This record gives sequence, C-alpha cells and structure tokens, in this order.
Amino acid sequence: MGKKIFSGVQPTGNLHLGNYLGAIKNFVDLNNEKDNKCIFCVVDLHAITIKQDPKKLKNNIRETVATFVASGIDPKKSIIFNQSSVASHAEAAWILSCVARMGWLNRMTQFKEKAGKDKEKASIGLYSYPVLMAADILLYDATHVPVGDDQKQHLELCRDIAQKFNNDFKNEDFLKVPEPLIQKEFSRIMSLKDGSKKMSKSESSDLSRINLTDNKDQIINKIKKAKTDPFSMPKLIKELEERLEAKNLLGIYASLTNSTLEKSVEKFAGKNFSDFKENLSQVLVEKIQPISTEIKKLLADQSYLDEILLEGVEKADLIASKKIKKIKEIVGF
Ligand code: ADP
Ligand code: TRP
Repeated sequence: MGKKIFSGVQPTGNLHLGNYLGAIKNFVDLNNEKDNKCIFCVVDLHAITIKQDPKKLKNNIRETVATFVASGIDPKKSIIFNQSSVASHAEAAWILSCVARMGWLNRMTQFKEKAGKDKEKASIGLYSYPVLMAADILLYDATHVPVGDDQKQHLELCRDIAQKFNNDFKNEDFLKVPEPLIQKEFSRIMSLKDGSKKMSKSESSDLSRINLTDNKDQIINKIKKAKTDPFSMPKLIKELEERLEAKNLLGIYASLTNSTLEKSVEKFAGKNFSDFKENLSQVLVEKIQPISTEIKKLLADQSYLDEILLEGVEKADLIASKKIKKIKEIVGF
C-alpha cells in the first residue's frame, strides 16, 4: 500500500537550498512513487506567528506554490493548497490545544530559538505553533511526514497529541500516529557564512544561503565567498568533526550528486578549496538554475498558480471537513 504523505512549508520568502535538500527534494521523490497520496501545504497560518507584510505574504504564497511545481511536484498528482483556505485547520488546532499540555510545549526548542530573549513579547501563536502543525497532519490521517531535521521534535509532539486524544476519548486509532521521514544524511544544511548555524530564510545576510531563485552568477559568487578554513581539503572524514564549513560544503556536494560524504571527501582530498568550489558551483548551477528559471516563468502566470491553489483547496477541504466533523462528534459538540 502507498503512503499518505503530508508536509508543509511556510510562505515566508527566500526559499533556499536547505529547504530544497532537507524537504522539497523528498517531496518530489514521494510525489513520483506510484501509490502514494501526497498533500503539500503552504502553511500561511504558521507564517503569521511572526509579523508579515500582508502584500509580501500574498506574493510569497504564490512563490511557494511556484517553487513546489518548479522543483517537480505535479499538481495533478499531488494536492497543493494553502492552509488558511481550509477552515478545519484552525478549528482542529483549537480542539487539540485543549489536549496538548503546557509542559510538552515548554520543551519545544524552536519556540525558544524564535522567541529569543524576550519571551514575553512572542505571540501566543508562536508558542502554540506545533499544535497547529499537529492539526495539519492529523486532519488528513497522514502516515508519513517528510521534514528537515529541525522539525523532528514537533513531530514527536504531534504523535503525543494524537495518542492522548485517542486515550482521552477512548477512540483507539482514530487519530493516526504519523511517522517522520527525515533523511539520515544532510538533513540539516548549514549557513555558508557559519557552519554551526542552519541555513535560514531569516538570516539577514543573503550570502549565507543559496536561494532557489538565484541565477548562475549569484550562485557562483556566493560559493566563492562561502567561508572555509586555511587548510587544504580534508583527507579523512574524521577531520570534518572540527571543520564544520568543509563538512557542510562537502555535504551539499554529496547530496546534489546523490553520492556519500565519504566518496566526496575522497574525490577532493588534499586539493585546494578553490578547485572544489568550482566543482560545487557547477553542480549547484546545474540543479538550481532550471528551478530558478521555472519559478520566474510560473510567477509571471499568476492565474495558473491561483488555479492550482483553488483546485487543491477544494480537494483538501473535502478530506479535512469529514475528519473535523468526526472530531467534533467525539468531543461532544
Ligand atoms: P524555515 O523557516 O525554518 O526555513 P520552513 O517552514 O519554510 O522553515 O521549512 C520548510 C522545510 O524545510 C521544513 O521541512 C524544514 O525542516 C526544512 N528546512 C529548513 N531549513 C533547513 C536547513 N537549513 N536544512 C535542512 N532542512 C531545512
Ligand atoms: N513547521 C514546519 C516548518 O517550519 C512547517 C509545517 C507546518 C509542517 N505544518 C506542517 C511540516 C505539517 C510538516 C507537516 O518547517
């Protein structure tokens, strides 16, 4: 039997190589497996947990759809929709927030990172963000959720919420407990400027990431400027423990060439970083430039993107509204 896949990406702009290698590339593979049913959600309700410019948000929603399609997700085979257009997400999130415990949410590291030092000023939405994510997944009886490594803790919380709901309401197996799908290798791509920080949309320096909309020259320039160390390329994989930037760049190379870290270390052992960077730029341009060109082409045809969303919303709403109806009955409404 095929898998039921659900995943989400926030429409917060600057989709980058980390999003691609950590998540979207897997979406494409799962979309291509014959018996899978895939749903990919543009999670706009999650996006507003941090202040957004309304005009930019609208564009970013379309850009996220364009990125999905440009990367190879077929909108006829998979459902692509935006979260705020299916009311069941917000409804289910409220009900599940009465099942989730404060103690569980207090452990979430993403909240701690995103809220920063002044937690009093964080929105309540940012705090309950993982409950909304659980609602997304559980409404569709998803069996598998492909995400980057940073979302693992949120998926564990989703599993706990599903189990507690089933126990509390004596309805074994009603909410399906999903499995995370996290790649073993390269599940966390790091900043080009600091090998200890993850590549991120919100990092102020654009040189820290390869955006999926970057052109050839931008990619080459960013790799040229990427941080390295004063030594030649590592000869042994062991050296990478202390050489985070080399590890990240070699990891990106390995992932893009469908190879392993070992083989990539072997290939460039002892060479200059500049030789390696030339090779890396080349594979990056080969992979990213066609996506970037296609995103721009799709963005010029807004009505096509809006049509994809409309069709997706209709299909998603059919599934989600049935599930929320049952949830409400079980709760006693
Ligand atoms: P973010 O704001 O963290 O980029 P998104 O909601 O847009 O978050 O993330 C979409 C997907 O991309 C998630 O599955 C997330 O785990 C993954 N992702 C984000 N950043 C990275 C990274 N640096 N390396 C690997 N995967 C990542
Ligand atoms: N929280 C996820 C992230 O930041 C995005 C997301 C929202 C998601 N709902 C989801 C991912 C449901 C998987 C399933 O990356």
